[in-house]
Amino acid sequence: MGGDRAGRILFLVKASAPGKIILFGEHAVVYGQPALAVPVTQVHADVEVLDSPRAGIWINAPDIGLHAKLNSLPSDHPLAAVINNFFPHPNPSPKIGRGERGEGLEINITSTIPVASGLGSGAAVSVAMIRALSSTVNRPLSDEQVSAMAYEIEKLHHGTPSGIDNTVVTYAKPVYFVKGQPIEILKVGKPFTIVIGDTGISAPTKESVSDVRKLWEADKTKWEKVFDEVGEIAKKAKERIEDGEWERLGELMNQNHKLLQEMTVSSAELDRLVSAARDAGALGAKMSGGGRGGNMIALVKPEMAEAVSKPVLSEVEASLRDAGAKNIIITTVNP
Ligand code: PMV
Repeated sequence: MGGDRAGRILFLVKASAPGKIILFGEHAVVYGQPALAVPVTQVHADVEVLDSPRAGIWINAPDIGLHAKLNSLPSDHPLAAVINNFFPHPNPSPKIGRGERGEGLEINITSTIPVASGLGSGAAVSVAMIRALSSTVNRPLSDEQVSAMAYEIEKLHHGTPSGIDNTVVTYAKPVYFVKGQPIEILKVGKPFTIVIGDTGISAPTKESVSDVRKLWEADKTKWEKVFDEVGEIAKKAKERIEDGEWERLGELMNQNHKLLQEMTVSSAELDRLVSAARDAGALGAKMSGGGRGGNMIALVKPEMAEAVSKPVLSEVEASLRDAGAKNIIITTVNP
């Protein structure tokens, strides 16, 4: 982008990353079981980097009321950590702003992904920031490198993350994920429609992950059996998705939800939305992500969701709203 010494912007780069939902296998994935996740492009994190007349690197994230100079933030602040990890040398030169005006950098971050709700907001912000910084300094990174960098930040958000969030958000494709193994892009035989209902309650994944760990530490045999069952569900789901037998995913969602309830990571609000979706004719429903709040998902026949665009509320959407859903997203998982 062109500019001059009069203070106009000399360069501006932008990058975005989508939200995500976990279809099957959350929590058990931390213990080595497979999980399935898909991108949700209706919500996204957007980052722009531009040169700045003021020295230093400035982070502006109006959604969380943050306007700060990088070196004023603690080193374990996730946004600061993305930048510090990207520029491994202390005091990255502000002259990375390539223009004459560029004493420093402004990094503007916005996101439509609700925080701490199981839609991958932390991973999406990290991935978008890493990609924007990579364009800024003209240092191309492979998806694998971007995902690995975002994983380091996930550790600050989650404690002991499996890596599924940074993976699905980086590749922006449906994934079959096993911790520590190369990513497998899920082949989707036929498209299917998911309604995502938000309890409006933000619940940190770190806490639910740590509570499941306490259960596991107290009785490893019992909980590993539960995790195995979840893993079997995820494997069956993968086959059904690949074979285009999406209608048969509903019963698997219901089974997975029951096991998540056993792990104590569901909540009264999530259970209420899950029941409301099933009562309104969804083929199956479950909580999604860390749990205790955040989002649930329901599998619907496409015609149930299509009604929304008419704009008549689909029965599932109306029922979710009656049961307290604060926001609803309808997404199609495409081949
Ligand atoms: O709350 P979310 O959507 O970020 O999901 C985390 C998924 C867990 O399996 C609970 C944790 C993990 O790291 O995989």
